[in-house]
Amino acid sequence: MKKTKFSNSRRDFLKVLGHLTGALFLNIDGFSKNLLAQTKELTLEPQVFPGKEKMIILSRKPIVLEMPPEGFEYFITPNELFFVRNNTSMPELNVKDWRLTITGEVKKPLVLTMEDLKKFKEVEALITLECYGNGRSFFEPKASGNQWKKGGIGTALWKGVRLKDVLEKAHLTDKAKHVIFDGADEPFTPGSPDFRRSIPIEKALSPETLLVYEMNGQPLPIYHGYPLRVVVPGWGGAASVKWLINITVSDREYDGFYMVDKYRHPKNPVKPGTKLSPKDMFVLTELEVKSIITNPHNESKLSSEKILIKGYAWTGEGYIKKVEVSTDGGRTWQRAKIVRNEGKYVWCSWEFEWRPPQKGYYTLMSKATDNRGRTQPFIPYWNQDGYLYNSIDMVNVYVE
Ligand code: MTE
Repeated sequence: MKKTKFSNSRRDFLKVLGHLTGALFLNIDGFSKNLLAQTKELTLEPQVFPGKEKMIILSRKPIVLEMPPEGFEYFITPNELFFVRNNTSMPELNVKDWRLTITGEVKKPLVLTMEDLKKFKEVEALITLECYGNGRSFFEPKASGNQWKKGGIGTALWKGVRLKDVLEKAHLTDKAKHVIFDGADEPFTPGSPDFRRSIPIEKALSPETLLVYEMNGQPLPIYHGYPLRVVVPGWGGAASVKWLINITVSDREYDGFYMVDKYRHPKNPVKPGTKLSPKDMFVLTELEVKSIITNPHNESKLSSEKILIKGYAWTGEGYIKKVEVSTDGGRTWQRAKIVRNEGKYVWCSWEFEWRPPQKGYYTLMSKATDNRGRTQPFIPYWNQDGYLYNSIDMVNVYVE
């Protein structure tokens, strides 16, 4: 380990501590879990998170990290830039002791080691994961929660097995209607709710719903659920439970805190600012159709005669049919070119070549439409927790 000069200033000390813990963390297997435990005992939180140094920190406890704008340069998001959304403390699991249990409405309960799990047919898939709260900071009036801008999203190549294959091995009973996932993470304060969520059996049995142990060719990083997580494609990230240790098949939807009090949406549209009780809301499922402009950046000055407007578009259960761009504040719209389309559950990249007619201030917009005719609204659908923000994206630029 490098020797570090001690400085009198508290800020420098914190920085050094951050780097030091970073260096220690990165020593073993890219991440030492023992040392993670040690930093928990320190009263000072690290200034950077090892392996995630470039991320925008939205919260340190729990760790919530937004992808910086540079992350959009990659169609497949590097692990170092992939957003992190924890609700709890990160558990330190040793794969040798780790087991996955499958219980509940099954005829043959299972206890699987990682070796057992890897005997199922291995599958690999590109899947885009977006936090239900992505874009929350754009709601007016403000919705409470982490103030995500555009970076609560990323695309990875996930490797694992089909959840369906594992459930079938356990032989579902006729009462199997929902599948509850439980991670090994614990709430910070004893007695607070545990992070557990369920999905309907139809989605669990869809061949695209995976139990994954690799992300972009590396063992699943601890931030993303080491050693195993579920990936529920087309649904908000909350459905994709990390650090998975138990799957319970149930005859009903799970009714814990993260289903009843969080991740719900109004049954009927409400006046912005209205607070509803859970009975007037339903559990969130698939994502909305959405596009964002990633280049140029908001409030940038541009001098070129030819400007390439670029971005991504994605949807929940479906495909992107078209992306349109407006360079005149929404008066007229033109088709953007889809550059890379990897099919269902993966974002598409798109671009549009623009020749500004004269210098001045412009509002650029993007709007996606999916194969079910769903498109983006001008006015966001306000909801108290700020989920599923998907308004037409807007970027202001000055052309010199
Ligand atoms: N799984 C567990 N066990 N605990 C959590 O707090 N957070 C969820 C989900 N899975 C969470 C979890 C939420 S809200 C999101 S958006 C995704 O993980 C984020 O996945 P990522 O951190 O790998 O990007």
